[in-house]
Amino acid sequence: MNISFATPSVPTSGALIVGVLEGGKLTPSAASLNKTTQGALERAIDANAFSGKRGELLDVVAPAGVNNSRVLMVGMGAPAKLTEKDLQDIGGNIAAHLTRVREQKAAVLMDKLRGGKQAAERAANAGFGAILRSYRFERYKTKQKAEDKPSLKEIRFHLDNPAAAKRAFQRLEKVADGVFMTRDLASEPANILYPKSFAAEGKKLTKLGLKVQVLGEKEMQKLGMGSLLGVAQGSAHEPQMLVMQWQGAPNAKDKAPLAFVGKGVTFDTGGISLKPAGGMEDMKWDMGGAGAVVGLMKALAGRKAKVNAVGVCGLVENMPSGTAQRPGDVVTSMAGLTIEVLNTDAEGRLVLADALWYTQEKFKPKLIVDLATLTGAIIISLGHENAGLFSNDDKLSEQLTKAGKEVGEEVWRLPMSAAYDKLIDCDIADMKNISGGRAGGSITAAQFLQRFIKDGTPWAHLDIAGTAWTSKDKPTVPKGGTGFGVRLLNTLVSKYYEK
Ligand code: BES
Ligand code: MN
Ligand code: ZN
Repeated sequence: MNISFATPSVPTSGALIVGVLEGGKLTPSAASLNKTTQGALERAIDANAFSGKRGELLDVVAPAGVNNSRVLMVGMGAPAKLTEKDLQDIGGNIAAHLTRVREQKAAVLMDKLRGGKQAAERAANAGFGAILRSYRFERYKTKQKAEDKPSLKEIRFHLDNPAAAKRAFQRLEKVADGVFMTRDLASEPANILYPKSFAAEGKKLTKLGLKVQVLGEKEMQKLGMGSLLGVAQGSAHEPQMLVMQWQGAPNAKDKAPLAFVGKGVTFDTGGISLKPAGGMEDMKWDMGGAGAVVGLMKALAGRKAKVNAVGVCGLVENMPSGTAQRPGDVVTSMAGLTIEVLNTDAEGRLVLADALWYTQEKFKPKLIVDLATLTGAIIISLGHENAGLFSNDDKLSEQLTKAGKEVGEEVWRLPMSAAYDKLIDCDIADMKNISGGRAGGSITAAQFLQRFIKDGTPWAHLDIAGTAWTSKDKPTVPKGGTGFGVRLLNTLVSKYYEK
């Protein structure tokens, strides 16, 4: 689907889209169409008790007086109150509706409205939302019938300043590119996406100006990453560490990068602590954290963000086999800390331990945010509406919370403390990888990670087990891989860390 911007005009074919304000009040474009259709819009509003509430749609199909296929009225509520996210949601809902009714092209007639955002900014955000909603993963559908393919080819926004809208949209489009890459990675099955093929996808980003390095098993052995390698040893696939650097602020006074670290378990069977069969296929997206890191780096490079950032992904497959690690094994991490592996299904923290330590040793980052589909327990705590946030830093937590609200990828902070930390103390090693009980499972996992964060480094951990995948459509997120984290962290960067 293509999004375009043009000067005001009213096309005589395809769908027309106009806004309706609070209380069912017509915008100027709607009022003029109401005239040419001999009052059809107002009659439809009355017949359907349409109030113009934000997000409501009312479709008037093939009205007399025009040759257009339909006039779609879009509730905008009070325009002064519309946020960027509201506009993106509206755009997403429009795209979904047009797709459902098999429309091919649509023209949005934008108006100057008193209060609120300029038409250009409104159009750019609605276009962004429409793009995000139009995502599909269809690589493996070889026999799709024509009538099952999406019909919608174009949404064109008509407004006074199309050039300004286009400029704003081009930047957002780069973010959408990042989100789509993350969704693609989460959707790929684990026979196609394993550590090496994942790393190869990362390497493709060099053409955007990212510096990409990949560490293999040998190099990780040399670095002493016994924690990550223990998880990988049961798999026929070699583990990888994917390292992506973006130098968008080479002349900054403080060149220390922001670091983003992702859990990239390309499939999590649980290992010898094997998971039950039901639903195990979901564990193909246990690389959602790493996927978000890659998508974020793509977005930052794509829009040439004025920031120095590094993305690190620990990539492994967690399998049971004759070479797999056993419950009770003790491994030594790159940090030198020893870990008794009491449950091989608590593998994400083992992978992150070495990825986090490596990131700090190598890059001395200004701050670290890690993303991981880490615990089922976070779904019990927060459902699918918030990711868990754990942090040693109030300022970073607040920034993430605000950025999350702004983009609709919300995070909720949970506590950490010495009392929780104690639960992973171990009789025979420096720590164990599970606390032993189910109580506070997401918190004890976060405490484990914190043991690998150096004093003084602001750090936040996002447990995205409940938000990396959705089983139902949302305004800007069709069901499947959500790309959660890309918009959130892109906004964190642009709002607080870009000069
Ligand atoms: N990848 C899972 C967590 C997960 C569960 C992600 C559901 C997405 C959806 C993680 O590796 C895991 O298995 N965690 C265990 C930890 C337990 C053994 C302490 C869990 O949550 O049960
Ligand atoms: Mn697991
Ligand atoms: Zn896992």
